[in-house]
Amino acid sequence: MNTFGREFRITTFGESHGKAVGVVIDGVPAGLPLSEEDIKRELERRMFCHIHWLNPRCEPEEFEILSGVKNGHTQGTPIAIVIWNKRAISSYYDELWMKPRPGHADLAYYLKYGKFYDHRGGGRASGRTTAAIVAAGAVAKKLLSQLGVEVCGHIIELGGIEVRRSYTFEEVKSSWAKPLPVVDDEALAAMLETLRKNAAEGDSVGGGVEIWAVGVPPGLGEPHFGKIKAELAMAAFSIPAVVALDWGAGRALAKMRGSEANDPIIIKSGRPALESNKIGGVLGGITVGEPIYFRVWFKPTPSVRKPQRTVDLAKMEPAVLEFRGRYDVSVVPKALVALEAMTAITLADHALRAGLVRRDRPLRDPVV
Ligand SMILES: Cc1cc2nc3c(=O)[nH]c(=O)nc-3n(C[C@H](O)[C@H](O)[C@H](O)COP(=O)(O)O)c2cc1C
Repeated sequence: MNTFGREFRITTFGESHGKAVGVVIDGVPAGLPLSEEDIKRELERRMFCHIHWLNPRCEPEEFEILSGVKNGHTQGTPIAIVIWNKRAISSYYDELWMKPRPGHADLAYYLKYGKFYDHRGGGRASGRTTAAIVAAGAVAKKLLSQLGVEVCGHIIELGGIEVRRSYTFEEVKSSWAKPLPVVDDEALAAMLETLRKNAAEGDSVGGGVEIWAVGVPPGLGEPHFGKIKAELAMAAFSIPAVVALDWGAGRALAKMRGSEANDPIIIKSGRPALESNKIGGVLGGITVGEPIYFRVWFKPTPSVRKPQRTVDLAKMEPAVLEFRGRYDVSVVPKALVALEAMTAITLADHALRAGLVRRDRPLRDPVV
């Protein structure tokens, strides 16, 4: 399954060390302003090249929009975007063939696809494939901006260091001006230090992020199996290395009594609204016009330089693997951008499903 979404539908393709990764996006109405700059900006947000020990591959993103866009506007036809893989070094992976990396997808792919899968750089399971998701997310974000919806996330935990103070959505957005999007400077400094230390030691760390979607209109989500929480959870868990998700106040809610947990309903500007938003903007699987927020955690990057026990599948005997290739000391920063993208794609799909945007009509008057 490489297709996601019903009305705003993406199909991704490509492996880490193949020629390219890419995406075909179907369902975008005609007349949406879209430039290469919109795609480039999002792809660059996921690079973090300024922290060189965080992203040793630091692939300059060379991409092309192959179809669906003319004179800076979508045409209403499928948008195909291809992102070339330029900096793959496959020789690192020669000695890994038939020696699955613990924690990576190698073993699962071998068991499912036999010797036909591409193990180089993690192949189809690689974090590299999220570049295609991010490109599609750029288009989804552009569509959502027409509805006044904004999606942005930040890092809340890295290598066991947590952001503990409260913050606003404005602070979340402005944290992107820092080396890593972390609202708290003290936590940021400690996170950078732990990344540096783990890079030097050849190890890796996990962590967590929080995603916000504000300006979300009420009515997105379809009971029973198209609930917005369920679909966003599926979207999140489609990103490699995700291990947990907490919705709204999440596990903190589970510790409260009902009288504390419930968000009182009030009248705001003549409309029913929630006084607080512990529930993260969704009741009964349907948005209620309040911001959506949820947290997602990632495991540490599987590839580490330290010796790992595995099996040589050709000889069927124990083996020790010492990974010599490049790896992300933490997947968290890049994965955050992928998660923003999957969130935007899911919301754009539901906006079309709810009829807030029509895929069969131009957003603007057709030019005659
Ligand atoms: C953005 C991103 C970058 C990643 N970079 C690496 C990496 O450099 N090395 C590695 O071993 N795994 C990396 N991963 C994690 C693996 O892709 C992932 O653990 C693997 O596919 C197994 O999937 P699972 O963890 O969901 O079971 C990355 C994941 C993401 C989302």
